[in-house]
Amino acid sequence: MATLLELDNVFKRFGGIVATNGLSFNVEKGESLALIGPNGAGKTTIFSLIMGEIRQNSGAIRFKGHDISALPTHERIKRGISRTYQVPRPFGDMDVAQNIRVGMTPDNLWQMVFGAPDLQAELEIARSVGFREEDLARTPSTLSMGDLRKLELARTLATKPEIMLLDEVFAGLTVAEIDQIAELLAEKRKEGMTFIIVSHDLRALEPLVDRAVAMTFGKAIAEGSFGEVMGDAAVRAAYLGE
Ligand SMILES: Nc1ncnc2c1ncn2[C@@H]1O[C@H](COP(=O)(O)OP(=O)(O)O)[C@@H](O)[C@H]1O
Ligand SMILES: [Mg+2]
Repeated sequence: MATLLELDNVFKRFGGIVATNGLSFNVEKGESLALIGPNGAGKTTIFSLIMGEIRQNSGAIRFKGHDISALPTHERIKRGISRTYQVPRPFGDMDVAQNIRVGMTPDNLWQMVFGAPDLQAELEIARSVGFREEDLARTPSTLSMGDLRKLELARTLATKPEIMLLDEVFAGLTVAEIDQIAELLAEKRKEGMTFIIVSHDLRALEPLVDRAVAMTFGKAIAEGSFGEVMGDAAVRAAYLGE
């Protein structure tokens, strides 16, 4: 397997808080990695760093062997990196189809506003996450949390990603919604998609990943198979309060 994404001794400080404390890990192409750790461990910060929404103070982030640390977010999206947000962030005044369209044209607002929409492609992406054709005209305020998470995934898929960073992808969902999203992710994984998945729902997470990295206070404390990491004494102490 080839290494797709590489974090190399990455530090990020917010004032006095060290959110990422010399973190290093790799993700291979086609691999699905669980990133676990208690609230405040620095998981979301890592996603923001990988997307270039914030910049690390030191250390390198490489994608396909190239240091992308200086690239703006839209350039990273173009190269195939995408994320969903812990709190869904749809464009509230746009319907489902338009939200997907934004993903398809991430750095081209002109195309978005005036270009001819590719309705077939929008519908295909919407369907791939479980929406029906009639959902395309719905606005985010009418969507359940499960549908909002689907919309996050659709918006992300519309950028044609090579790696998807999924933040708390099962949070706030019913058991039925969790199963539906898990099934979709399993399908994408079979197709060869690369993932980093953050979730506190270990039952849903375990069958979706090849490997896990556990972190606390911005540092990796264990890395290995899901079972190995969850059985690690330091992880149990930090994560499960044992
Ligand atoms: N924009 C920010 N400004 C200041 N502190 C932040 C910011 N983002 C995150 N933090 C802090 O960094 C630490 C890691 O946060 P976060 O990455 O959100 O953790 P997690 O996603 O694992 O819950 C926390 O202490 C949090 O308060
Ligand atoms: Mg978080």
